[in-house]
Amino acid sequence: MIDFSLSEQQKAFQKTARDFAAKEIAPVALDYDRNPRFPGEIIRKAHSAGLMNLTCPKEYGGQGLGLVDSSVINEELNAACVAISGMIGINSLACGPILCGGSPEQKKRFLLPLNQSGKTASFGLTEREAGSDAGGLKTRAKLEGDHYVLTGQKCFITNASYAELYTIFATIDPSKGTKGICGFVVPRESPGLSVGKVEDKMGQRSLNVAEVILENVVVPRENLLGNEGEGFKWAMEALDEGRVNIATVGLGLARAAFEAALSYAKTRVQFGRPIGTHQGLNFMLADMAAAVESARLLTWYAGSLADQHKRFTREAAQAKFYATDVAMRVTTDAVQIHGGYGYTKDFVVEKLMRDAKLTQIYEGTNQINRMVAGGALMR
Ligand code: CAA
Repeated sequence: MIDFSLSEQQKAFQKTARDFAAKEIAPVALDYDRNPRFPGEIIRKAHSAGLMNLTCPKEYGGQGLGLVDSSVINEELNAACVAISGMIGINSLACGPILCGGSPEQKKRFLLPLNQSGKTASFGLTEREAGSDAGGLKTRAKLEGDHYVLTGQKCFITNASYAELYTIFATIDPSKGTKGICGFVVPRESPGLSVGKVEDKMGQRSLNVAEVILENVVVPRENLLGNEGEGFKWAMEALDEGRVNIATVGLGLARAAFEAALSYAKTRVQFGRPIGTHQGLNFMLADMAAAVESARLLTWYAGSLADQHKRFTREAAQAKFYATDVAMRVTTDAVQIHGGYGYTKDFVVEKLMRDAKLTQIYEGTNQINRMVAGGALMR
């Protein structure tokens, strides 16, 4: 028998996250959308409430939870605001390569102080000419004695302006393709590291996304994760977990849009009865509910494989593209159900629809995620 119910502990996590989201995030979500800024105080409170660094082991300052637990928590935070929630949760992707490829000493050195302090990090893979084709990155790493020198430019880096440290991917030899890529931990204060253009985005307005410029940045040899040439693997493994997290972002968004649309459809009266009782809209609501629930199941399924230490690359990719396509469809339908009001900034569904678009693009476009899932099917 398959039991879809949550454990008592998961219900407690869910309640903590739901209460936190209702008190600290939902009331300010529209304001953070209109006046984008760093949600430093909310991050500080999330850290105190134990809502950060969820899957990082306790010995490295994290909460030591599984990926299903983390999805249960993140659904609540994301339903309130995906941009603020993305800033709270960025360490799971940013620190993923350290957990995947770092030695116990490196994990202790980098993760423990970061997680204990409540500070945040960034994941530096993407470049102008290496987005979907991440293996084509050009940032160079040259070994000179006991240190590497990094030169290049990263773009679309979440939290770049506020990160305490960066996991940066660079190549020692571009002719080696993905086998030349190395992962490094680069502290913020490293001379030669600077933050460039901050992106002015359609949605997820308070999710900071900016360039990271590396000009002859000296990185000690002991900041290399694993061995030379292993970096691409650490990036991909971190993205497996990241894609379950983005599926949860899509799920939270879709749920919020569905709940807003349902509530509106129950109270808005046209032709003498609530609009949700008209068959055209009633069928839309039924499809939205089914989409949200199926997105949740695919997301939890991918998370449960990770929690059992099984390979979950295909399932993470399919949860990501499915749940975020659901987010786009359900938020668009929620605007439609609100009619003209839904297209105004007076109603949250307008923000949700703009926020949803990015989920189909980041952490691998949905075309790339279909490629990952489809490729696995054929192997
Ligand atoms: N786990 C472990 N190893 C993996 C892996 C995974 N999930 N995926 C690939 N690898 C390994 C492969 O096994 C292969 O190793 P071998 O040669 O030893 O067999 C090696 O990595 C190279 O793999 P591919 O040949 O499949 O590599 P590719 O160049 O064809 O690229 C890709 C594959 C899936 C398209 C990859 O480039 C990709 O994921 N692109 C999208 C990048 C992306 O998601 N970027 C998001 C950045 S973060 C962000 O969006 C924003 C944010 O901060 C929130």
